[in-house]
Amino acid sequence: MKYLFYFICLAFSGLQQLQAATDWHTQSNYQEVVSTHVHLELNVDFKQKQLEGYIQHQLKYLDKSAKKLSLDTRALDIHKVELLINDKWQSGEFLLAKEDSVRGSQLNISLKPNTEQVRVYYNSRPEASGLQWLTPQQTAGKKHPFMFSQSQAIHARSWMPIQDTPGMRVTYSAQIKTDKTLRPVMSANNSPERRPDGVYKFTMPQAIPPYLIAIAAGDIYHQAMSKQTAIYSEKAYLESAAEEFSDTQAMIEATEKLFGPYRWNQYDLLILPPSFPFGGMENPRLSFITPTVIAGDKSLVSLIAHELAHSWSGNLVTNATWRDLWLNEGFTSYVENRIMEEVFGKKRAVMEQVLAIQDLKEEMKELPRKDQIMHVELGGRDPDDAFSGVPYVKGQLFLMFLEEKFGREKFDAFVKKYFNDHAFQSIDTKTFVNYLYKFLIDPNPGKVTIKDTNAWIYQRGLPETIPTPTSDAFEKVDTHIKKWLDKKVTLKQIPTGDWTIHEWLYFINNLPENISLDKMKLLDKAYNLTESTNNEVAHAWLLLSIKRGYMAVMPRLEKYLIGIGRRKLIVPLYKELVKTEDNYTFAKRVYKKARPGYHPLAQGTVDDLFKKE
Ligand code: BES
Ligand code: ZN
Repeated sequence: MKYLFYFICLAFSGLQQLQAATDWHTQSNYQEVVSTHVHLELNVDFKQKQLEGYIQHQLKYLDKSAKKLSLDTRALDIHKVELLINDKWQSGEFLLAKEDSVRGSQLNISLKPNTEQVRVYYNSRPEASGLQWLTPQQTAGKKHPFMFSQSQAIHARSWMPIQDTPGMRVTYSAQIKTDKTLRPVMSANNSPERRPDGVYKFTMPQAIPPYLIAIAAGDIYHQAMSKQTAIYSEKAYLESAAEEFSDTQAMIEATEKLFGPYRWNQYDLLILPPSFPFGGMENPRLSFITPTVIAGDKSLVSLIAHELAHSWSGNLVTNATWRDLWLNEGFTSYVENRIMEEVFGKKRAVMEQVLAIQDLKEEMKELPRKDQIMHVELGGRDPDDAFSGVPYVKGQLFLMFLEEKFGREKFDAFVKKYFNDHAFQSIDTKTFVNYLYKFLIDPNPGKVTIKDTNAWIYQRGLPETIPTPTSDAFEKVDTHIKKWLDKKVTLKQIPTGDWTIHEWLYFINNLPENISLDKMKLLDKAYNLTESTNNEVAHAWLLLSIKRGYMAVMPRLEKYLIGIGRRKLIVPLYKELVKTEDNYTFAKRVYKKARPGYHPLAQGTVDDLFKKE
């Protein structure tokens, strides 16, 4: 019986591996005619909340008989199309297909013989899913508007007609015009000088997948941190961010030592307003970062290590489809933790591993079985709806497992070679697995089996071979919690003076699930947790408080939900609130105030919570 089960599993995973990796999420014909370079000429129009202008595609014919170019679009107004044939522009024909609810509308452009380039004149709409337009009120400075793009996974198409798949790559150039008082920046070479005419030019000479083309504009200033790193942000965050992230250069050097050269020259950070829906986004040369990690004590800088790590995993070696996201985020989480170990030491790196594993286990309890698989099935689904910690932490754990089995020396050499051999390529899970066997598993026989790798990649849950890091610091915290619950010590007697944010997070997350209200009050009185200025600690405490019905936090919770738009921090709180009638009413009232300040992506996620009554 047991063997029959394995046989079925193996057969099933084998079948999955046989399918060619086509990207379900694009309706473009990138496997026939592919654009190799795009040029954008756009006006950032804050009044209309739109980008307006043209995109120009340089074409390469993979199929010489191709008669059309198909691009992805979503909610774009297409004005006209021009074709460059024998160095002359002439007008072209196009047809916008009926909208697919997940993928958007396919834009079909008829190609004439010898069409070298295609130009599409268009504008985005105010509701573009990949852009957020902020009023001055929603910024830190309150005087100027701000806008930014967030294109991963399939939102680039909402602000430019493009072959929107991570399976292809383009170089790009751009000319961006905006209000003279503002400055645009892009995931390209940014020059620190402001231009009095409001016209800025950008080039990205390295080929990147379209989801990494990024733009922002606002009252943005520049402050260098080191030769290779700088902060771009509104004035309000400039100094504090430069201070908080001053180890970025050391992080680059640590990663280079471990896994090979940083290939993108400059590495800058753009600090966005608090409504940015993510912690960070690895836009090349210019990661986009939430201000909620400027904690004052560098306690949350693993986020920078994470976005930087994407300069190797994700940006250099890219997932060919969104099913293969784990190759991107799993490797990045692994590299992130190795950077943290190099720069901040083993103790902190292990604490971060343990916290991540605990979070994953918690999340997995509520995750549909199919979404517990790293090589997740996404056909017909919006990748945003399948977003979870699985590709991140299960992916990281898989790599930790391999490291454990083969030893650091061999594993590091393998990872370095993997990045180098696939630099500027997009690969799928099957290609990775073949490479893994060829260069790591087969040359070192007897350590890892097919059953092991299949369990990690193609099966749900957490495999038996899961690594179990332990943190001495957290074991001490466990002992203190137990002593307090057994009434052997008071809270005052617990030596919390030298605790880091990680210990506080572990402490809160490991209090008993059914802790009494009296104890919640005592904790709050002793440690003032409700007023914690660390956004992660506040999040953990607010979540526990909602679960335990500790109502004293409600005013702080309201402020928190209105002040922050980062999905990871707000969504779990709303999820918990909608479970009871009273809290539901509270959540609905607060959301009404908070919603206008949230990004369309965050709005979508929270809207759904109120629909599922
Ligand atoms: N690339 C991701 C953000 C992302 C993933 C956007 C998938 C859209 C689809 C980014 O690198 C990321 O993982 N951010 C995390 C940070 C973290 C795990 C340290 C976040 O925003 O919380
Ligand atoms: Zn990431």
